[in-house]
Amino acid sequence: MTTTAHTRLSWDYTPRTPQLQRLYQRAQEQQWSAAEDLDWTQVVPFGQPLPDGTDFARASFEASPMAERGRPMWDTFRWELQSWLVSQFLHGEQAALAAASRLVQELPDVESKLCAASQVTDEARHVEAFSRYLREKIPQPYAVNEALHALLRDVLSDARWDITALGMQIVVEALAMAAFRLAGTTFHDPLIRRITTLVARDEARHVSFGVLSLREVYRQLSSAERADREELVLDAAALMRRRFLLGDLWERLEVDRTAGVQYAATDRAMVAYRRTVFTRVVSALDHIDLLTGRVRQGLERLDLLGDGSPVRRPPGRAG
Ligand SMILES: [Fe+2]
Ligand SMILES: [Fe+2]
Repeated sequence: MTTTAHTRLSWDYTPRTPQLQRLYQRAQEQQWSAAEDLDWTQVVPFGQPLPDGTDFARASFEASPMAERGRPMWDTFRWELQSWLVSQFLHGEQAALAAASRLVQELPDVESKLCAASQVTDEARHVEAFSRYLREKIPQPYAVNEALHALLRDVLSDARWDITALGMQIVVEALAMAAFRLAGTTFHDPLIRRITTLVARDEARHVSFGVLSLREVYRQLSSAERADREELVLDAAALMRRRFLLGDLWERLEVDRTAGVQYAATDRAMVAYRRTVFTRVVSALDHIDLLTGRVRQGLERLDLLGDGSPVRRPPGRAG
């Protein structure tokens, strides 16, 4: 993809934003090493029988087009879903690495550039950890999902840096952070749970950084500029929802794709999962005054708003 990057330098080195300094400081203190802080000798029993899930998860499987293939299929599905999720996280991490490096160039002030630079290091470590996990522990990882690819291309090829920050830090990274926090129920071995715990801590800083960078900028948007950003958020949300309809997973499992997608679109457990991973996106949008009536309605139409979502606030109020 082609990106028009505008490199900006600032000759003013005076610290002005204590929150950015704290974030940068925390990023230094919370560095970890993918090679040394993870136990890579752990065996991942990929494909082996798993313990029973909750009644809710069991009922979801019984209602799926996989049910006729019996209990072994439930285990196969849960392992494949883990493989698919981790693969998509890895592809997102690589895009986050490119996005963060672009922010180093384009953000207007030096303090923000330092924060973005620490994010570059974080994302490199995430790519290292997830790619090693997939190479060494998972028999057949997944290529990038077409909906995720479309979103990454849209946000990385846009000439406006705030669109890259909005798409990556507010949508993709907030969603990943929420998904990592569900790792206890969606992932089945201690190594990947440990990786996602460490990565989620970094992602929390990246989302905060995105909110800090965009909050002031978005207070000053004209209504046409705001409408543009609302549209991007709704397009991104639709693509993220489509990603979680798992088309590529159904093909791998030789489940009829239409039936699989239909199941993923309507099943209560699947809908609940998507709503839960969107909660962080919704609260980040609220903090940058982009959870407008139009965005809220669009997210409702996509069935992505949970009961605990923040109520609408008028634009311009401090978050
Ligand atoms: Fe990351
Ligand atoms: Fe990140």
